[in-house]
Amino acid sequence: MADTTSRTGSRYATPELVDFVNRVHAAHDEALQLAFDAPVRHDMPAIQVAPSEGKLLGMLAALCGARRAVEVGTLAGYSAIHLARAMPEDGVLHCLELEPRHAEVARASLQAAGMLERTRVHVGPALESLESLASEAPFDLVFLDADKEGYPRYGRWALEHLRPGGMLLADNVYFFGQLMADTPAAAAMRRFHEETAADFQSVCIPTPDGLLMAIKPLG
Ligand code: SAH
Ligand code: DHB
Ligand code: MG
Repeated sequence: MADTTSRTGSRYATPELVDFVNRVHAAHDEALQLAFDAPVRHDMPAIQVAPSEGKLLGMLAALCGARRAVEVGTLAGYSAIHLARAMPEDGVLHCLELEPRHAEVARASLQAAGMLERTRVHVGPALESLESLASEAPFDLVFLDADKEGYPRYGRWALEHLRPGGMLLADNVYFFGQLMADTPAAAAMRRFHEETAADFQSVCIPTPDGLLMAIKPLG
């Protein structure tokens, strides 16, 4: 059998197979397709989560009853639509994005999805936006998908500002396959794993680049 590991993260997940399961389980409506295609259309990096990962984010948000949530790294709003749709009408998803151009595209994606009312797009370095959001804690869910060097600090913010039972999610925790590299950035990502495992109930979901899921203890 052809080895598809490098492209899909699993030797079994052939492109044809992935197309099939995406079509069956994670089909896009018009707004999701628009947001998914937006990075290429607007000359932005196409580094959004995969369709099945977006669906998973939404299902996890629904399972933990998220009404107040924070996304760190929004790009064109694709993952934000999945999260926002899983929340009640009076829920609020704060979308943190460094690049004004990305934030503008994200707002358009969220508007097309009818999700503008339950989202707030904050432009600037996530650390600054998180600081100003502290007064609105506690949150039910925090999803990390921005600069990977920031994860240790974002994780500590999440521990402090999630409610007991609240959920922390983080994309790319295999660090593009470089998690075990002998570099400061890889060491920081390993520290993020270790601190999260110590402070939360955690599991690393084996998506192609690893999706960390962690629950803040109740007691
Ligand atoms: N979650 C998105 C993809 C995010 S890509 C999705 O799946 O649809 C990562 C984004 O993080 C980029 O748009 C990048 O501009 C943003 N980013 C990078 N560093 C950041 C920082 N310090 N603060 C906020 N956003 C940042
Ligand atoms: C990159 C960032 C991501 O969040 C991702 O999922 C894939 C790639 C990047 O910065 O290259
Ligand atoms: Mg990512």
